[in-house]
Amino acid sequence: MWIPACAGMTKEKMKKSKLGNSDLLITKVGLGTWAIGGPWEFGWGPQDDNDSVKAILESLEAGVNWLDTAPIYGCGHSEEVVGKALKGVSKKPLIFTKCGLVWNEKNERVPCLKAKSILAECDASLKRLGVEVIDLLQMHWPEPEEDFEEGYGAMAKCVKAGKVRYLGVSNYTVEQLQRVMKIHPLTSLQPPYSMFRRDIEKELLPFCKKNNIGVIVYSPLYKGLLTDTFTKEKAASLPADDVRQRGADYKMPNLEINLYTNEKLKQIAKRNKITLAQLAIAWVIRNPEVTAAIAGARKQGQIKETAPAADITLSNDDINEIEEILKNRNRMLK
Ligand SMILES: NC(=O)c1ccc[n+]([C@@H]2O[C@H](COP(=O)([O-])OP(=O)(O)OC[C@H]3O[C@@H](n4cnc5c(N)ncnc54)[C@H](OP(=O)(O)O)[C@@H]3O)[C@@H](O)[C@H]2O)c1
Repeated sequence: MWIPACAGMTKEKMKKSKLGNSDLLITKVGLGTWAIGGPWEFGWGPQDDNDSVKAILESLEAGVNWLDTAPIYGCGHSEEVVGKALKGVSKKPLIFTKCGLVWNEKNERVPCLKAKSILAECDASLKRLGVEVIDLLQMHWPEPEEDFEEGYGAMAKCVKAGKVRYLGVSNYTVEQLQRVMKIHPLTSLQPPYSMFRRDIEKELLPFCKKNNIGVIVYSPLYKGLLTDTFTKEKAASLPADDVRQRGADYKMPNLEINLYTNEKLKQIAKRNKITLAQLAIAWVIRNPEVTAAIAGARKQGQIKETAPAADITLSNDDINEIEEILKNRNRMLK
């Protein structure tokens, strides 16, 4: 497989940033392990654990120093696979996990922010991951709204107990951030951000910058769509239980527009001797208000390609051209 741009770089060279108010220095690209969880209500279809382990180990070889997981990904399975992959690893990456979504007997997500549940979740995550401390514990969703202060208070108890180092939240609005910040220092926010989803630029990013809250963005590849390998054929062959089957952007007529946009973006990538996936990651981290991107990977070769994007700087001309391409996409989608 062709891996251009910075492919041979050493671990030491990979760019890092401090995460919010913490002392964690994190690489500009981290590994996301949602798909690695395998089937559940919001899974990505069948997943081979051997491929997952290889992808996790490959992220370390590529210089990535943190990974993001969650108990709900595969109903405990993603955390178990991460634990298994890291068992023999002497220099473990920083581990970021989540809480606040549990599951029922049908493997469906059940939001729960009751203190007792959060404390139990933290202990279960430590066990599955095989670590003594979680570097960052994030509330997955602010649901149910009336309980998120109770949930965040319980997360703070996990810090006091020495089980967690720092706290983060995910999928929060500015108003919700303001409410939890009063309870315990907030290190990070995890929102969606990519060329195809930019709503955080208006309010959330400036607010986080002003309040020294780190921002680690999810789905920077728009769940694999912003890559060279996403085609009409691939979309048509996604398993019925792949979460992307639910998204309008992965089906006609939007898919046609997205793939047309990809062709335009690929021209910029080609000019820079990088791939579309690398362009997509370099584009999210061009924004100084973004601390790092969480790049999902489920098999060998994927994070090896995306991790080097940490060190790619796009020119202003490229960024302006991308802006025009994205504006055109928005016009076509209307
Ligand atoms: N907090 C939240 O609510 C939330 C929500 C979403 C995600 N996240 C976190 O953010 C992480 C990243 O987001 P994401 O997994 O949704 O999406 P993503 O990073 O935008 O896309 C990841 C997917 O793209 C494909 N891919 C990855 N590298 C590729 C490459 N080099 N070439 C071709 N295809 C490639 C893989 O799927 P295929 O091979 O199947 O195409 C992979 O699973 C998640 O794993 C999770 O840790 C958090």
